[in-house]
Amino acid sequence: MRYPRPSAAARPAPPRIRRSLTALALAAALPSAVAALPSGARAAGAAAPYLDPRLPAAQRVRDLLGRMTLEEKAGQMAQAERSAADADPDRITSLGLGSLLSGGGSVPAANTPSGWADMVDGYQRRALATRLRIPLLYGVDSVHGHGNLAGATVFPHNLAMGATRDPALVREEQRITAAETRATGPQWVFAACVCVTRDVRWGRTYESYGEDPALVTAMETGIEGFQGRGGHDLADTRHVLATAKHFAGDGDTVFGTSTTGTYTIDQGVTITDRARFERIDLAPYVTAVRKYRVGSVMPSFSSVDWTENGVGDPIRMSAHKELLTGVLKKRIGFRGFLISDWEAVHQLPGDYATQVRTAVNAGMDMFMEPFSAPAFVATLVAEVRAGRVAMSRVDDAVGRILTAKVELGLFEHPFTDRSRAGTIGSAAHRAVAREAVARSQVLLKNAGHALPLRGTEHIYVAGANADDIGNQAGGWTLTWQGASGPTIPGTTILEGIRRRAPHVTYSADASAPAGDSDTGIVVIGERPYAEGIGDVGNGHTLALADADRAVIAKVCGAVPTCVVLDVAGRPQIVTGELPRMDAFVMSWLPGSEGAGVADVLFGDRPFTGRLPVSWPRSEAQEPINIGDRHYDPLFPYGHGLTTRG
Ligand code: GLC
Repeated sequence: MRYPRPSAAARPAPPRIRRSLTALALAAALPSAVAALPSGARAAGAAAPYLDPRLPAAQRVRDLLGRMTLEEKAGQMAQAERSAADADPDRITSLGLGSLLSGGGSVPAANTPSGWADMVDGYQRRALATRLRIPLLYGVDSVHGHGNLAGATVFPHNLAMGATRDPALVREEQRITAAETRATGPQWVFAACVCVTRDVRWGRTYESYGEDPALVTAMETGIEGFQGRGGHDLADTRHVLATAKHFAGDGDTVFGTSTTGTYTIDQGVTITDRARFERIDLAPYVTAVRKYRVGSVMPSFSSVDWTENGVGDPIRMSAHKELLTGVLKKRIGFRGFLISDWEAVHQLPGDYATQVRTAVNAGMDMFMEPFSAPAFVATLVAEVRAGRVAMSRVDDAVGRILTAKVELGLFEHPFTDRSRAGTIGSAAHRAVAREAVARSQVLLKNAGHALPLRGTEHIYVAGANADDIGNQAGGWTLTWQGASGPTIPGTTILEGIRRRAPHVTYSADASAPAGDSDTGIVVIGERPYAEGIGDVGNGHTLALADADRAVIAKVCGAVPTCVVLDVAGRPQIVTGELPRMDAFVMSWLPGSEGAGVADVLFGDRPFTGRLPVSWPRSEAQEPINIGDRHYDPLFPYGHGLTTRG
């Protein structure tokens, strides 16, 4: 029975003194642990090995697997959405569910740290009421901070973090995100996206660190921020299990190949050859697994179609046995577990039994089946009983899942460690996010050294994104799609400017007279979206909104110095407007700490950001990426003017 065991070399041995103290402490705690044993284990007198924290994880997992029924194993491979558990409270216990998740925006009635912790702990109590008392994993999309939680520190989305070119800053971001997440209950984050975005018409462009796999890989320090030093210090309740997603080629699909609803590129087909796929789409996973020992990987909704086989036979990643098992698990050495994306197996060919069988046999370990966990469990049990899924495959999957639970310390400490809840949204955390905002700003044009602003007397601020924290936070903020307006605590870009300038006139639509303003700052950009909803062609384009163009024309035609900021999840087409601007800055989606933008505008910090993606002259240029044979963007990958702080 083979299942993952972290190699001794991969796990740093604890200092000798700490190990002996741990043994002493555990020996003292053992009697109470025995008393808390499930009846079967207690009858044996000694603590069942799987409950003995002194034993190696592999031994504990082997013991527990040997005690489990097929139904209990299938339950561990099922993940439900929390609302399904609320609708059917017995579901967790009756199915022996392995995990619950909060989908984007699926928050407790009281969206507070204690509201979250009470919610997660309540589900955990139901899991501990099962025969073997196997604790739950609770997952959440903390993709730019614990974005679902009101009051959390909301960081710039990943594309902005790619613009910082600062791996240490990304590690610090995710260390903070892990602490704020785990202090509210979830021990597992569906982050970070290690997608390599190759076409900015993709609605998930902002979730990527950039178009260069080397840049994406460099930013995987975030996995260490999530999981702790060496990528595996999970028992520390400041850390969480991370997810490298979406395996693989999710950002490399061809425009117009999506087969999902109205999407145009998201969940589409990556048409490529194996060498290019390895170089661009697979490379980030080698580092995530071998250097950071990422605890889970989420296969992509998308498909891959090998050109050497003759285009026309795309295989969805959830069914791709060669890539999931042959490459990721066996060749690269992934020892964590695979979590399917949201009902992703429902997109596979055939009836449900065929979909489940295909995905399990391809190597999928846990199934995000938000509202159909009972059907999944029954189907998997039937497929094993019929001999169409081997018990060894189930044991491998469950062994991977249980190993994560043992390493997280959930058998010893299943409930939330709330001791750090006071650090959530703290000034110290927000200061780091503000630094990230400042470092992510990319100065693309600076005629006449318009920036930094010095000695300006009267600033005129306009534009729809100047004073809208919901727009500057973007998707995955309190709700799946995000929303405009004063949605979260923090500072807007305008508020940051007001704190630095003596005299500011603000007029969102530039209807107020500019008067004696010597500088105009126009903040344009996109409204929030997430996933394929943001795909170009699905109600979105890369063009500026008419209102944005009008405000640029009005303000830049009325004041001596005109600065334009673009608050968006991706480059927009500004070719026609650029000549009007004295300075142009890409601000990306800065999150809650908009004041970081003023820090570089007024020279408190230097501009240092550099483009993580190529900036197209027109939408027709997409996809356009560094290394293309004919490469003529408006601004090239890596471009960014600097100023002295
Ligand atoms: C979504 C996304 C994935 C996310 C999951 C859970 O469909 O594709 O990135 O982690 O569902 O919210």
